[in-house]
Amino acid sequence: MAMQRTRLIFLVVFFLYVKVEKLQSLDYTCNANDLNTGFTLSYSSHTAEDKSSSCSLQKCNSNLNNTKNCYHPSTPCFDYLSFDNQSYCAPAIQCSILQICNQTCTSNTSVCIVNSCCSPSSVCLPLSLTNLCIKGWFMTGNMTYARYGHTESVLNNGKVLISGGYNNNGGGDPSGAELYDPSTGNWSATMYMHNAHSLHTSSKLNNGTILVAGGMLNFIATNTTELYDLSTGTWTRTGNMIYARYGHKASVLNNGKVLVSGGSNGNDTLNTTEIYDPSTGMWTSTGIMNEKRYGHTSSLLNNGKVLVTGGAAGFIVFNSTEIYDPSTGIWLMTNNMNSLRNGHSATLLNNGKVLVAGGSDGYGALITTELYDSSTGTWANTVNMNQPRYGHTASLLTSGKVLVVAGQGVINGEFYDPQTETWTITGTLNNNRYGHTASLLHNGKVLITGGIGGYYLNSAELY
Ligand SMILES: *[C@@H]1O[C@H](CO)[C@@H](O)[C@H](O)[C@H]1NC(C)=O
Ligand SMILES: *[C@@H]1O[C@H](CO)[C@@H](O)[C@H](O)[C@H]1NC(C)=O
Ligand SMILES: *[C@@H]1O[C@H](CO)[C@@H](O)[C@H](O)[C@H]1NC(C)=O
Ligand SMILES: *[C@@H]1O[C@H](CO)[C@@H](O)[C@H](O)[C@H]1NC(C)=O
Ligand SMILES: *[C@@H]1O[C@H](CO)[C@@H](O)[C@H](O)[C@H]1NC(C)=O
Ligand SMILES: *[C@@H]1O[C@H](CO)[C@@H](O)[C@H](O)[C@H]1NC(C)=O
Ligand SMILES: *[C@@H]1O[C@H](CO)[C@@H](O)[C@H](O)[C@H]1NC(C)=O
Ligand SMILES: *[C@@H]1O[C@H](CO)[C@@H](O)[C@H](O)[C@H]1NC(C)=O
Ligand SMILES: *[C@@H]1O[C@H](CO)[C@@H](O)[C@H](O)[C@H]1NC(C)=O
Ligand SMILES: *[C@@H]1O[C@H](CO)[C@@H](O)[C@H](O)[C@H]1NC(C)=O
Ligand SMILES: *[C@@H]1O[C@H](CO)[C@@H](O)[C@H](O)[C@H]1NC(C)=O
Repeated sequence: MAMQRTRLIFLVVFFLYVKVEKLQSLDYTCNANDLNTGFTLSYSSHTAEDKSSSCSLQKCNSNLNNTKNCYHPSTPCFDYLSFDNQSYCAPAIQCSILQICNQTCTSNTSVCIVNSCCSPSSVCLPLSLTNLCIKGWFMTGNMTYARYGHTESVLNNGKVLISGGYNNNGGGDPSGAELYDPSTGNWSATMYMHNAHSLHTSSKLNNGTILVAGGMLNFIATNTTELYDLSTGTWTRTGNMIYARYGHKASVLNNGKVLVSGGSNGNDTLNTTEIYDPSTGMWTSTGIMNEKRYGHTSSLLNNGKVLVTGGAAGFIVFNSTEIYDPSTGIWLMTNNMNSLRNGHSATLLNNGKVLVAGGSDGYGALITTELYDSSTGTWANTVNMNQPRYGHTASLLTSGKVLVVAGQGVINGEFYDPQTETWTITGTLNNNRYGHTASLLHNGKVLITGGIGGYYLNSAELY
C-alpha cells in the first residue's frame, strides 16, 4: 500500500515536472505529446548528459549491436535495456524522478530498466513513454478485406471506420465496413452498409455521425447515401443525391451541411454540386462549377468558403481553381495554380494557407508544391518535395506539419514544415502504395490503409 502510494506520487511529480519544464537552450530536447526534457550534447562515450542530475544517456545501439535504431537527431531517443535485454526506445528521461526497482516493477505498465544514466539503480520506465520515440512506419493489424476506393473516418470515440471500396475478389464491391481500434491495433467487423460504395466520400457530421455518399455500386455510379451511427454501430439510409456520382469530393461547411462537388457519372465528368442538410436528410442542388472536375481537391477555408483545385475532365488536366461561397451558393474562378494538377493533395495549414502538393499534369507525377493565400487569392510556388508523387495522401499533424505518404511508385513519406518551408523524408513504408487512405488518430499517429501496391492491399500501417 505504501509502495503503491509512493509510485503514484513519483508519477504525478514526473508528469508535472515534464509539463512545466522548458529547457529550450539545451542541445537536445525530447518533445513528444507535450513532454519536454532537455539534455546537453556530450562527445564522450555517451550521447547526451544532464549536468543538473549528473546523468548521461547512451545513444541507441551504442551498447547493443542490434539493428534497432531509435536515435533521431531531431527528437533524440535513447536505449533503455530491461533485465532480459529487451531494448526500449524512450525520450531523455531523468532517472532520478522515476521509481527505483530491482529487476521487476510492481506495475505491469512499467518495465524495470538499466541505463548508464540511471546507474547504479534500476528504475521503472512507464511503457506509455516508450512509444513516444518510436519513429517510422509500423505495420498494424490487417484489414479483413483488401480495399481500394474506400474511405477512412476517425470517429469521436477514437476508433476508425473504414467503408467500402474494391477488393481483389474479381471486382466485387464489398459493402462491408470495419472498425480499427488504435488501443489494440485490431480490426473488427461492423454492420454492412445497405449498398456497396466505392470511390465514394465519407464526411463526419457535427454530431459525430458519418455520412457516406455515392460512389460506385457494381461499377455503376450510385446516388445512394447512408449514415453510420457510432453509438449503435448501425447504418441508416438517408436521402439520395440528385446526381449519381463517384470520384467526387466532399467538404463539411461551417453550418454543418455537406457540399459535394464534381466526380463522374460513368459517361461524363460532372460540374454539378449539391448540399446535404443533416436536419432534413435531403440533398439540394447548388451552383455549377466553371469546370467539370474529377481528381480535384476540396478544402474548407478559414473564411467558411470552399476551395476546389485542378482535377481533370477526360484527358484535359486543369490548373484552374474556384471558390464556393455558401452564402450565395455561387462558384467563382480564382487564380490558376502554377501547374496543371490531377490526383494531387490539398491541406489547410494552421496559418490558413492551403498547401497543394504533387499530382499529375497529364504527363507524369509532379514534385512541385504551391501555397494558396486566401487573403490575396494568389498561388506561390514553395519548395519541391524530394519525390514526385501522384495518388498520395497528405495529413495535417498536431505539430502543424504535413505528412505526405507514398504515391504511385513511391514507398517513402515526407514532412512539410510550414515554418521552415522544408520537406524531410521520413523513411520507408512496408508497402509501396497509392490510392490508400490516411487519417490523423487521436493519439497523434497517422493510420494508412489499403490502396494499390501491385494489387489491392489489406495492410495498414502507422506512422
Ligand atoms: C556490429 O555492428 C557493426 C557495425 O554495424 C558490424 O560491422 C558488426 O558485424 C556487428 N557485429 C555483430 C556481432 O553483429
Ligand atoms: C544481457 O546482456 C548482458 C551483456 O551482454 C549479459 O551479460 C546478460 O547475461 C544478458 N541477460 C540476459 C537475460 O540475456
Ligand atoms: C535484487 O534482488 C535480488 C534477488 O531477487 C537480490 O539478490 C538483490 O540483493 C536485490 N538487490 C537489491 C539492491 O535489493
Ligand atoms: C496488467 O495487469 C492487470 C491487472 O492484473 C491486467 O488486467 C492487465 O491485463 C495487465 N496488462 C498487461 C498489458 O499485461
Ligand atoms: C497481412 O496481410 C499480408 C498480405 O495479405 C500478409 O502477408 C501478412 O502476413 C498479414 N499479416 C498478418 C499479421 O496477418
Ligand atoms: C487482437 O487480435 C489478436 C489476434 O486476433 C487477438 O489475439 C487479441 O486478443 C485481440 N485483442 C483484442 C484486445 O481484441
Ligand atoms: C437515384 O438512383 C435511382 C436508381 O438509379 C433512381 O431510380 C432514382 O431516380 C435516383 N434518384 C434521384 C433523385 O435521381
Ligand atoms: C450513360 O450512357 C448510357 C448509354 O448512352 C445511358 O444508357 C445511361 O443512362 C447514361 N448514364 C448516365 C448517368 O447518364
Ligand atoms: C446526428 O445527425 C444525423 C443527421 O442529422 C441524425 O440522423 C442522427 O440521428 C444524429 N445523431 C445523434 C446521436 O444525434
Ligand atoms: C456543365 O455541364 C453540362 C453538361 O455537360 C453542360 O451542358 C454545361 O454547359 C456545363 N456548365 C458549365 C457552366 O460549364
Ligand atoms: C493554366 O492553364 C492554361 C490552359 O492550359 C494555360 O493557358 C495557362 O498558361 C496556365 N496558367 C498557368 C499559371 O500555368
